[in-house]
Amino acid sequence: MQLFGIDIGGSGIKGAPVDLETGELTAERFRVETPRPATPDAMAKAVKQLLDHFKWSGPVGVGFPTIVSKGQCKSMSNLHKDWVNVHIDKLFKSVCGNDFVVINDADAAGLAEMSYGAGKGEDGLVVTITLGTGIGSGVFHDGKLIPNFEFGHLRYKKFKPVEKYAADSIRKHKKLKLTEWAERLDYFFNYLNRVCSPDLIIVGGGASKRWEELEPLLSTNVRLEVARTKNEAGIIGAAMASKDFL
Ligand code: BGC
Repeated sequence: MQLFGIDIGGSGIKGAPVDLETGELTAERFRVETPRPATPDAMAKAVKQLLDHFKWSGPVGVGFPTIVSKGQCKSMSNLHKDWVNVHIDKLFKSVCGNDFVVINDADAAGLAEMSYGAGKGEDGLVVTITLGTGIGSGVFHDGKLIPNFEFGHLRYKKFKPVEKYAADSIRKHKKLKLTEWAERLDYFFNYLNRVCSPDLIIVGGGASKRWEELEPLLSTNVRLEVARTKNEAGIIGAAMASKDFL
């Protein structure tokens, strides 16, 4: 059973067909740069470019890096103010012709981890975290997604969102040593523990690449696991979101 997933991020738009039985990509993923400014029109054209590459005319699932409710964008996050209130699914359909299901990007990555990765069979409260341009979060209770939790927007000092303190992009920008980044991640994981007491936090995105070095530096009491679907989680989860079209 093959579906198509697109993961839209602050720096790249990546897509591939996915086999939902195995949770694996069936062709090498293709990437186009996220246009800057990331306006609705420019992004819809980039999505079309990606679908044209695969000559894909079937339904498409998209993970989108803002709050998304019933296909509608509800925040600008790291994109562009013109996105707010746009019906993303309808816009993409009008430009590409395909049917679209659009959900939050971190919710999509979490769906993949819960089905094929470190969250498989995990019950209770599981939080999946994606460390990238921002911090994305997926919340699952007994395996069921509760959408649109924006834990990257919890505040730290001076009312800034915590993603401006601990995201992977901040590590790169500030040239943080791994020990310094670990300290910031501890702050964030302890914060999560204080607000929702997760049974498990699954850590994906930038941190998963250097997990062996990073894990011993973390001292939070919350149970942590590294994401297993790595780079592809967003694409796989987005494809999963479109399965109602089958
Ligand atoms: C956005 C989230 C998104 C995350 C990762 C945050 O800035 O508010 O909706 O999931 O970045 O892309």
